[in-house]
Amino acid sequence: MAHLEKGRYPMKEDIKSRLLVTGGAGFIGSNFIHYILGEHPEWTITNLDSLTYAGNLENLKDIENDPRYKFVKGDITNRELVNQLVGQGIDVIVNFAAESHVDRSIMDASPFIRTNIEGTQVLLEAAREYSIKLFLQVSTDEVYGSLGSTGKFSEETSLAPNSPYSACKASADLLCRAYYHTHGLPIKITRCSNNYGPYQFPEKLIPLLVTNALENKEIPVYGDGMNVRDWIHTEDHCRALDFVIQHGKVGEAYNVGSDNEQTNLDLVKAILDIMGKSHDLIKFVTDRAGHDLRYAIDNTKIESETGWKPRISFEEGLKNTVNWYVQNESWWRRIKSGEYADYYQQMYSQR
Ligand code: NAD
Ligand code: DAU
Repeated sequence: MAHLEKGRYPMKEDIKSRLLVTGGAGFIGSNFIHYILGEHPEWTITNLDSLTYAGNLENLKDIENDPRYKFVKGDITNRELVNQLVGQGIDVIVNFAAESHVDRSIMDASPFIRTNIEGTQVLLEAAREYSIKLFLQVSTDEVYGSLGSTGKFSEETSLAPNSPYSACKASADLLCRAYYHTHGLPIKITRCSNNYGPYQFPEKLIPLLVTNALENKEIPVYGDGMNVRDWIHTEDHCRALDFVIQHGKVGEAYNVGSDNEQTNLDLVKAILDIMGKSHDLIKFVTDRAGHDLRYAIDNTKIESETGWKPRISFEEGLKNTVNWYVQNESWWRRIKSGEYADYYQQMYSQR
């Protein structure tokens, strides 16, 4: 978006901001709500979440009675509800709500198109109608597609999504860009790499492998385990979103990463070592269709324009995360024994 006129969103620490957070009952959204309530005593949050399989109000139990926080169960594709909420007085929309799992998008792309594309458009329209101050679209590095063995994604890298999930996220990014260009809507976009941390749904690699290892179950590694991901602790991601809200330029996209590339196999072995479990739990299974080989993030822009830098080392972050799943067994056991058990069964019987 280099050719577009840029301006800073004039937010200062002392300005009271009213946030509409969508998808706040999921993994990153719930971490973000905790982070913002802790960081900004003057800000208020309305959390709009439809509570799909991935939404879990247990993630927010400790703050459910905080007077600065309100939960609304509802869908971002519900135009009437979204207009009503934004019309009540919202300064900033932070859009996390999405279908987020690549494997599910391979099985059925329809919910991804509805939520990730149509839902974003409903939110953008409401933002326009009520002239909000900022629309932050929480996007992903997967919109850039896959890297070979060298190079990194910059914000200038062409969008080349390879999965139905990332194609829908890229579509939403382009809609945000169009609303900025055409309607002057103050948008910003962030594109973060793979997150790990507390409250992550155990269909994703790290919580799946930690909880399977705790149960002494096999750990499915797709293909030869040589695919590379760039891992960031979710608290660093949440801080980055806060920095972009406050200091990022309107109309711009910001990559977010932690300069921490790992092959899946190295990552799995490192976690098994932390847990004192045998590598014999590893089971190589059929590869994911269209599996992106490698993601890596160039952080130069966010660091130079907003002053953000990741703080949590991978070693410390992994240990804390493993510990969290050890100490919150009832949280993941409830999920793994519920309707997710059928999905897991279906998914892994096909591999
Ligand atoms: P998640 O699947 O854990 O949570 C998604 C949340 O959105 C859930 O609470 C779900 O109930 C809610 N939701 C889904 N459809 C909805 C709808 N139609 N209306 C209202 N709420 C709905 O996802 P996550 O891992 O926390 O990811 C959050 C966002 O961050 C997503 O937009 C994702 O693309 C992006 N992202 C994730 C990662 C990652 O590593 N997990 C990295 C970069 C970007
Ligand atoms: O890069 C950001 C993206 O990271 C986000 O946009 C997505 O929402 C998020 O789900 C994540 O996508 P990935 O596909 O990279 O994450 P996942 O945890 O599903 O897989 C990580 C890697 O591990 C990937 O190379 C596939 C592999 N994998 C995954 C699972 C679930 C396995 O080898 N075995 C598994 O059982």
